[in-house]
Amino acid sequence: MTFDITKLARPQILTLEPYRCARDDFKEGILLDANENTHGPSFIEMTEAEKDLDLNRYPDPHQQELKSQIINFRNKERTDISETEKLKIANLCLGVGSDESIDALMRDFIVPSKEKMIICPPTYGMYSICAVVNDVEIVKVPLDLETFDIIPKDILAALKKDPLIKLVYITSPGNPTGKKIDEGLLLELLKGIEENDSINALVVLDEAYIDFAPTGSSLCTYVNKHPNLVVLQTLSKAFALAGIRLGITYATPEVSILLNSTKYPYNISNLTSDVAIRATKEASLIETKNKINKIIEQRGIVLEKLLKLKYIGKNRGGLDSNFILIEILNKDLKPDNEIANKVYLTLANEKKIIVRFRGKELGCTGCLRVSIGTAEENAVLVEQFDNVLNKIVEAN
Ligand SMILES: Cc1ncc(COP(=O)(O)O)c(C=O)c1O
Repeated sequence: MTFDITKLARPQILTLEPYRCARDDFKEGILLDANENTHGPSFIEMTEAEKDLDLNRYPDPHQQELKSQIINFRNKERTDISETEKLKIANLCLGVGSDESIDALMRDFIVPSKEKMIICPPTYGMYSICAVVNDVEIVKVPLDLETFDIIPKDILAALKKDPLIKLVYITSPGNPTGKKIDEGLLLELLKGIEENDSINALVVLDEAYIDFAPTGSSLCTYVNKHPNLVVLQTLSKAFALAGIRLGITYATPEVSILLNSTKYPYNISNLTSDVAIRATKEASLIETKNKINKIIEQRGIVLEKLLKLKYIGKNRGGLDSNFILIEILNKDLKPDNEIANKVYLTLANEKKIIVRFRGKELGCTGCLRVSIGTAEENAVLVEQFDNVLNKIVEAN
């Protein structure tokens, strides 16, 4: 089937005349066209670098420099893409973290209180929150609870049964699973969608943690080959820049045009783009990779030490992310939500070590999600875990 954006997007969005910014018309001269304050800002201890950021001016809505750096390094990660299929600037839309992109896709592609979306539990909680806010019905198609992989035939069956489903949110590596979704299964799903005339849906692949998986794991370079694929990434995780709020959406140009014309024009601040541009330069990417490797090494150490503890069960999740999902056991050596929750609360309240209780997520009974910190933080975590866990289980 040929890809048809008119069957995917909300009709109002297709006909929308995008907002035209003052700077789209003229870029240089005495700029008195955007009601900015040309006297410049006044705040204490302004640095020279901050002065250079033109903070009194609206930011660039298009962010070409940042986008071009991003596509350059992503294109280099995979060699199986033809020259014409490589990522171009037109494939990108930037957002205030990927949370904004998750919401933007619903707003552009799902008619509220009529059309629907799929999530694959256990998964990231924001998809459901955005769905409620946007009045979108959720259809749940669980992951395989043994492998935490998607089941393409189940997703395709749900899509065939209900042509009102417009988006399928898949997280790879998953949260809270930490497991990268098998590429073959994702391609099987995309092929199923491409070959079926009755399905008009986009697969939204949320790759927030992808840089903790082996290099080349991202499918972002596939969006020109598979137009029903949309990939989300963020600088919040591997790039350690959660505070600047920068998310990236990769999509076929037809989808990308809509996302760019419906976003708030100035969503990426001058401060954010300045840091993001520096963080995606060659030298910074090398340093980022070094830190990722340290986290991966520490992940192995933490896991090995925790798995030796008597009341820790198995590593329930995968090893493709910067966290682990471990089972907490009771005296009978069974995963136990009550004990896991007590361990979580005691670690937080008495030891000031905060992990996340995930026991209520599908297939995650008794599970705590532990982010991997620095070597020092991890050493404290392991030591306190042992004390707290033994005391709680023995007392129960
Ligand atoms: C799977 C997943 N997607 C998206 C996000 C949000 O990322 P951002 O900080 O870019 O909004 C998170 C944050 O925890 C996440 O786990």
